[in-house]
Amino acid sequence: MERPTPTDVEKEVSSIDMIVSKGDAEGNITYTNPIFMKISGYSQGELLDKPHSILRHPDMPKAIFKYLWDNISEGKEVHAYVKNLCKDGSYYWVLAQVRMAKNPDGSFRNYVSTRRRVEEAAKATISELYAKMLAAEEEGGMDASLKVLEEFLSQRGHTLETFNACMDELNK
Ligand SMILES: Cc1cc2nc3c(=O)[nH]c(=O)nc-3n(C[C@H](O)[C@H](O)[C@H](O)COP(=O)(O)O)c2cc1C
Repeated sequence: MERPTPTDVEKEVSSIDMIVSKGDAEGNITYTNPIFMKISGYSQGELLDKPHSILRHPDMPKAIFKYLWDNISEGKEVHAYVKNLCKDGSYYWVLAQVRMAKNPDGSFRNYVSTRRRVEEAAKATISELYAKMLAAEEEGGMDASLKVLEEFLSQRGHTLETFNACMDELNK
């Protein structure tokens, strides 16, 4: 499938919307709820078995996805702001809570992401952070980007260990 060309059109996520998807160990989509399809503009057939990166927006720093995968693959939940690309090139912001779900015997079942609305102030703060991280990635790669993230967290009294709490505080 051809990648959509990003536009400046933003889609509204309402405060009652819960955009849910599930993925296998590689991040391929195994389930989406109706709001996921409605906002992204893709049908279920276009989404199932496709990688979640079908939604990847070029404004997203690589380091955020590295942090996501490093943690969820170890069973730790991650709360991260994500700017997603729709089929028509528009975008929407979400605060995603991504975690590993396990079977009763403790084995891996799937990954689950529950996404909700991002307040305007948080969007402004995170857009600025991600732009700085992207610029750092171009100049100095992943390490430089992570350094920008760690500085951001430290300015707010947080570290990578308390990343989720810092992200939650920004959306209050
Ligand atoms: C359950 C789950 C949900 C995800 N949701 C998104 C999403 O909404 N948008 C997104 O860009 N990546 C999402 N990802 C991360 C993607 O798997 C991928 O790491 C990311 O899009 C970067 O793609 P790339 O590594 O091909 O550059 C999700 C991963 C998992 C496991």
